[in-house]
Amino acid sequence: MAELPFPVTRVATCLLDWYGRAGRELPWRNTRDPYPIWLAEVMLQQTTVATVIGYYQRFLESFPRVEQLAVAPLEAVIDLWAGLGYYARARNLHAAAKMLVEEFGGQFPRTVEELQRLPGVGRSTAGAIAALAFEQRAAILDGNVRRIFCRLFALQQPPRSTAAEKQLWRWAEALTPQQDIHNYTQAIMDLGATVCLPRKPRCEECPIASLCQARNLGLEQQLPLKQQSKPPATRREAALLLENRGRYLVRRRPASGLLGGLWEFPTVCLTADEDAASKLRWLMRDFSVSGEPRQLGSITHIYSHFRLQLELYQLSVADLPQVAEVENNWCALESLSQLALHGAHKKALLELPDSGE
Ligand code: ADE
Repeated sequence: MAELPFPVTRVATCLLDWYGRAGRELPWRNTRDPYPIWLAEVMLQQTTVATVIGYYQRFLESFPRVEQLAVAPLEAVIDLWAGLGYYARARNLHAAAKMLVEEFGGQFPRTVEELQRLPGVGRSTAGAIAALAFEQRAAILDGNVRRIFCRLFALQQPPRSTAAEKQLWRWAEALTPQQDIHNYTQAIMDLGATVCLPRKPRCEECPIASLCQARNLGLEQQLPLKQQSKPPATRREAALLLENRGRYLVRRRPASGLLGGLWEFPTVCLTADEDAASKLRWLMRDFSVSGEPRQLGSITHIYSHFRLQLELYQLSVADLPQVAEVENNWCALESLSQLALHGAHKKALLELPDSGE
């Protein structure tokens, strides 16, 4: 690796000193137990600290030990995750708990390589668990840390390109100190979350501002460079919001497959210019209901690999149609908002009339 523009220990020394004064008190920071640390890291992968705290506490109350998580039904895990989003994390967590119990005898492995065998644990999450729980000299490179290094070294490449990725990991490894790994890891996470912010970095509070090349060049607002991404493919679907006395029919998607285990209103797929009416009639036949569904509106939601265009049709029926109870449920509006509905269908709630008028 090219020479660093400062002594290799400088960053860690400054960060550790700053963390001692300004680090946040967070519920997962008073433990070295890998189970709650792993849980927090997975929850924090795409979600802010403020949102995660409540979920983290409720999750640990329900499943205080990995053995309990491993034997829980996936549906119970998904329901506790309701509202956190990115539900693949919940499915992976559950699968990883089973693996931990069945293959590792309930003990977390201690190395980054073995930790990465757990579903949902990539290199950075594995590094975080190894560093935080086991004080291993392991590097992390999550979104926040990536931004810090792009600025610290004024990296002028899109940070997700292969070359940039390699370089960023080299810096992450080099700057991880030999000692005090737990606190260093927490410190760099806090710096990214509270000081080296995406839009308006608070450089005047930054303990490594004097080392920061982006700041020296006046580029701290321009870096990291934006990634060029191609627009996702679009899918079109129509949802039937079937209402009976203020309650709506929802069903659970199969546990395996896309958006597995999440709830949704009954839905049909449509081709690009297909009329929704005839496809909706299929669904209505399944539920033995008739009438003219009323179009409420249309919603767009971006999932990780596609953009969903969801058209909403409401139909109120006077009799309660018979539906199999296992994966179908009649829910009042208040309970719908508590349910693990997937993103587009959560947005659909905003389009519903207040109480089945
Ligand atoms: N983001 C990811 N991991 C974190 C942690 N342990 N503390 C605060 N924010 C985080």
